[in-house]
Amino acid sequence: MLEGARDRLQERVEAVPYWFHSIDLGDGIVTPGHKPAAVLAQEFDALGLPDLHGKSVLDIGGWDGYFAFEAERRGAVRVGVVDHLMWSVDRSLWTASEEEKDAYRREHHEAGTPPPQHELTEFWHPDTMPGKLGFDIARAALSSGVEDFAVDFMDCDLEAIGQWDVVLYLGVLYHMTDPLGALRRVAAVTRELAVVETEAVVFPGLEHEPLWRFFPEDELSGDITNWWAPNRRGLHSALTTAGFRSVRSLKDPTGEELEHALPHFRAVAQATK
Ligand SMILES: C[S@@+](CC[C@H](N)C(=O)[O-])C[C@H]1O[C@@H](n2cnc3c(N)ncnc32)[C@H](O)[C@@H]1O
Repeated sequence: MLEGARDRLQERVEAVPYWFHSIDLGDGIVTPGHKPAAVLAQEFDALGLPDLHGKSVLDIGGWDGYFAFEAERRGAVRVGVVDHLMWSVDRSLWTASEEEKDAYRREHHEAGTPPPQHELTEFWHPDTMPGKLGFDIARAALSSGVEDFAVDFMDCDLEAIGQWDVVLYLGVLYHMTDPLGALRRVAAVTRELAVVETEAVVFPGLEHEPLWRFFPEDELSGDITNWWAPNRRGLHSALTTAGFRSVRSLKDPTGEELEHALPHFRAVAQATK
């Protein structure tokens, strides 16, 4: 890349108010993501994906697009990203410090009212999608052909999305108010394999029961967009109920995770049509 072009790209990357993914754009430019590059590489490997050459891959809730760009780099012939929630949020207006955010949450808890969902705040701009800027910059810098679907996956026309060989549903399930309905929609767009990565819980002694824990406010990570987390059996039975033929878990909770009073961990499940 020419020196001037590299400087301009660096400036554009720095102008993005918030990057979730660290993406290597070449020439020493890596986006300053909340998730470091090494963590993302480990997360990608932990999905246990088949050889992607010749496959189509849809990344639902793809945000800045790391997993989609990586699938493309690994040979997928067609890759798409669906996103909406975070693409609709204007983080440049979101200037509160961590202390201010904690105080805001405390106030709401003391008043007995949960903090409002993003849709009800001044940060919500689904008409202009300011949160998609990072994805757009990365796609252009990588000369990528990843397609974007800027729609709410829960109420979009699934015919327009079509079916994809491999579907990634990573870090999205616990944001759903209707997780079974969401998995039914994931099954509808999956031709062969869906990989679901999610916050999950353990109810010690009840591992054989299909259970889900509900988070009515912001109990899970202080995030009011988190609603439900299944135990492993709960995730498997929801996936089969949603229309997948078989489900395989790729990750167990660690000994340390099991020591929490309410044990929770990140589960990865491969669901086959
Ligand atoms: C925790 S982030 C996970 C991002 C990425 N998949 C990863 O694992 O690093 C959840 C993503 O799901 C997206 N999302 C949540 N609800 C959605 C919906 N109904 N339709 C489309 N995207 C949604 C959010 O905008 C956000 O980008």
